Amino acid sequence: MTTFDERLIEQTTGALEVFGIYLGDRLGLYEPLRDETGVTPDALAERCGIHPRYAREWLEQQAVAGVVEVHDAAADADARRYRLPKQHAAVLLDREHPAHLAPLARMIAGIGGVLGEVAAAYRSGGGVAYARYGADFRHGQGGINRPAFTTSLVESWIPALGGAADKLARGGRVADLGCGQGWSAIAVANAFPHAHVLGVDVDPASIEDARAQARAAGAAVRFECADAAALASEGPFDLVMLLEVLHDLARPVEVLASVRRALPHDGAVLVADEKVAPAFAAPGDALERLMYGWSIVHCLPAQMAEQPSAAIGTVIREDTLRAIAAQAGFGAVRVLDVDGGFFRLYELRP
Ligand SMILES: C[S@@+](CC[C@H](N)C(=O)[O-])C[C@H]1O[C@@H](n2cnc3c(N)ncnc32)[C@H](O)[C@@H]1O
Repeated sequence: MTTFDERLIEQTTGALEVFGIYLGDRLGLYEPLRDETGVTPDALAERCGIHPRYAREWLEQQAVAGVVEVHDAAADADARRYRLPKQHAAVLLDREHPAHLAPLARMIAGIGGVLGEVAAAYRSGGGVAYARYGADFRHGQGGINRPAFTTSLVESWIPALGGAADKLARGGRVADLGCGQGWSAIAVANAFPHAHVLGVDVDPASIEDARAQARAAGAAVRFECADAAALASEGPFDLVMLLEVLHDLARPVEVLASVRRALPHDGAVLVADEKVAPAFAAPGDALERLMYGWSIVHCLPAQMAEQPSAAIGTVIREDTLRAIAAQAGFGAVRVLDVDGGFFRLYELRP
């Protein structure tokens, strides 16, 4: 059993190691390390355009932390060859692999950049707008859900909604609200090439990224920078998706009421949101700890930037979601019997 002081030391080590992964990801240091024969510090520095002294220190840290392997630890520091084990390459480099988690490091770095503003918001009662978390957080957020959106969303989540997949295959209309960098909308457009896909987000930089990704992927998606509450005027839609978005809305009832108006009688809403426990309990399990962690430094401050705000935080419990859906005029809410990873998946029907 670790004592609390030991736990804090371990967590500090963990935080520093996450920053090491951030540097590797940001500077492209992991790709050359896929090479089976290994890479020396000088070769890595040359390939990635970084200073050799930094390359050596970073490689030593990564090896000590067990992220990379070293061929001959007893050799001269500059002669050692380092490589990335295959299982770690999936986590750090393979952007659509289910185990890809390197984007977490970018999210953490984005939060680190505005922690002073977060502390000030705690005193003032104000907030820190999503855009303030910057490119690191945005890319982290887009990257972390990309594997699930590219595979599970189109292979199991949408098919679990009665009839929606058939409609999209025939050319139905889909709206992806709070689409961020657009990976979900792009995946739907690729999987259902006859469907008409609209992605909406209030963050201009996310929409710019989404448009660029769609162009690169050759996906026919219309991305609009707008408030999700304006959706009703764009309907009708056979399917509306809110993927890790509902808890982040300052006005969730208003948005869902607009969604409700944009649905025909047989339209469906897919909500993916955090798979948290039914009620508050302390101490919480690993997932509750993770979600409260995001909440205190990112989700709640971002939600508080807009007022008035429902200020849900990250921890949206099932009964909260059901209450919001009912207030917005939805008659039925069903939890889908499908593996959503960190998400619980809800089907809302008029
Ligand atoms: C947690 S992120 C999820 C992004 C994306 N769905 C994903 O999973 O990668 C929440 C997103 O909701 C967007 N958002 C928040 N309030 C919004 C609103 N009122 N209308 C449209 N988008 C909103 C934010 O800009 C952000 O991109």
